[in-house]
Amino acid sequence: MPKDTLTIIDNRTEKSYEIPVQYGAIDAMALRKIKVDPSDFGLMTYDPGFANTASCKSAITYIDGDKGILLYRGYPIQQLAEKSTYLETAYLLLNGDLPSASALKLWQGEINIHTMIHENIKDFMKGFRYDAHPMAMLMSTVAALSTFYSDAKTIQDPASRHLQVVRLIGKMITLAAFAYRHSMGMRYIYPDNELTYTGNFLNMMYRIAGPYEINRVYERALDILFILHADHEQNCGTHVLRSVASSHVDPYTAVTAAIGALYGPLHGGANEAVIRMLMEIGSKDRVPEYVRRVKAGEFRLMGFGHRVYKSYDPRAKIIKEIAYEVFAQTAPSPLLEVALELERIALEDEYFVARKLYPNVDFYSGLIYQAMGFPITIFPVLFAIPRVTGWLAQWLEFIADDEQKIARPRQLYLGKPERDYVPIGART
Ligand code: CMC
Repeated sequence: MPKDTLTIIDNRTEKSYEIPVQYGAIDAMALRKIKVDPSDFGLMTYDPGFANTASCKSAITYIDGDKGILLYRGYPIQQLAEKSTYLETAYLLLNGDLPSASALKLWQGEINIHTMIHENIKDFMKGFRYDAHPMAMLMSTVAALSTFYSDAKTIQDPASRHLQVVRLIGKMITLAAFAYRHSMGMRYIYPDNELTYTGNFLNMMYRIAGPYEINRVYERALDILFILHADHEQNCGTHVLRSVASSHVDPYTAVTAAIGALYGPLHGGANEAVIRMLMEIGSKDRVPEYVRRVKAGEFRLMGFGHRVYKSYDPRAKIIKEIAYEVFAQTAPSPLLEVALELERIALEDEYFVARKLYPNVDFYSGLIYQAMGFPITIFPVLFAIPRVTGWLAQWLEFIADDEQKIARPRQLYLGKPERDYVPIGART
């Protein structure tokens, strides 16, 4: 009769241990009873980058990396991209189920009334240098929000938690647009709550004088991109969010830390890095030489590979389709040709095939953003806006989870054993 247990024989002591297996995992603390003698600390696992360690139980997002499946609360990402809106998907991620028509209306209204920011935040942003990176401005300004909402510290109060959630989602588009306008030396445009979430964002970004006509293809494309980026279970940024939130700090501070993680080129900064890479390659005929250098280990192909997906990232497939819709509205992008050639060559090359390296979400998203007129430096910000929803859903789940504790990994100490301090004159 098969048992849901794991038997471990410790060859150091020849003792046998039976450990329960639940949800395909063992409790790491169960290993601690495996000791060579009573004074031994007990066995640990060594897992740099948490490649095989589950840090939480979650009911938000499911990924099957081998099959290229991504579900939010059980719904396939393809169906949400086709039929839902970003704000409806945000409600789903945060609450667990799709809203009724009246709940959705209420929710959209709540987000809308929180798009406005305190005038002092505007002044705060004015203090940044003219060439400050918008992602760094966003990160610092979200941190500054914690000084405006001291009620956010009451994280055990559900009403306060809800308020911070709607504030953060509402204000992200305003802060992002202000960061862009600052870098362009343009006056800030206030939110117009008659518009949709993405329409409002586009208006705050691009309105110059007089009314700004929103391109409906761009508005919908951006909405779909926001859906695709809203959550992705325990990635680097989300892990940071949960880790920082585990100290029970307010959500603005935890989100700030997560934005910092997302900023890096191996994570949310990859869409920016992809465009820089495509510009560096420059033309289709230079792709083979670039791929040769990647294979020689000089650098990585940005927008390729994923810790979890070992097949085509399902988000990349949807994004490629949107790309063609957006490009139909604009002049053809010379970089698209380079990207398509890069993808074609890489997908046939043994190096990439053997390592299961496929285009990820960032490979085409930058090209779409660029076609829509967004400057490269704002790309990571466009990732951060919707990811706030995922972070907040994970934060709410974390708070409700009695099994969670303050994050505190172990280490394997390989340094010097204890030794006595040597006075400076006696050192060799
Ligand atoms: N180009 C070339 N080789 C690569 C790449 C790449 N983009 N990614 C991985 N490899 C190779 C790597 O050199 C290694 O080869 P070997 O076994 O010979 O040493 C092998 O593939 C496994 O690499 P790894 O570093 O163990 O893989 P990982 O799961 O730790 O890294 C990754 C995942 C996303 C950091 C990595 O694929 C990468 O750096 N990609 C480029 C950056 C990028 O596009 N990031 C966006 C990720 S999707 C958006 C998000 O969720 O943030």
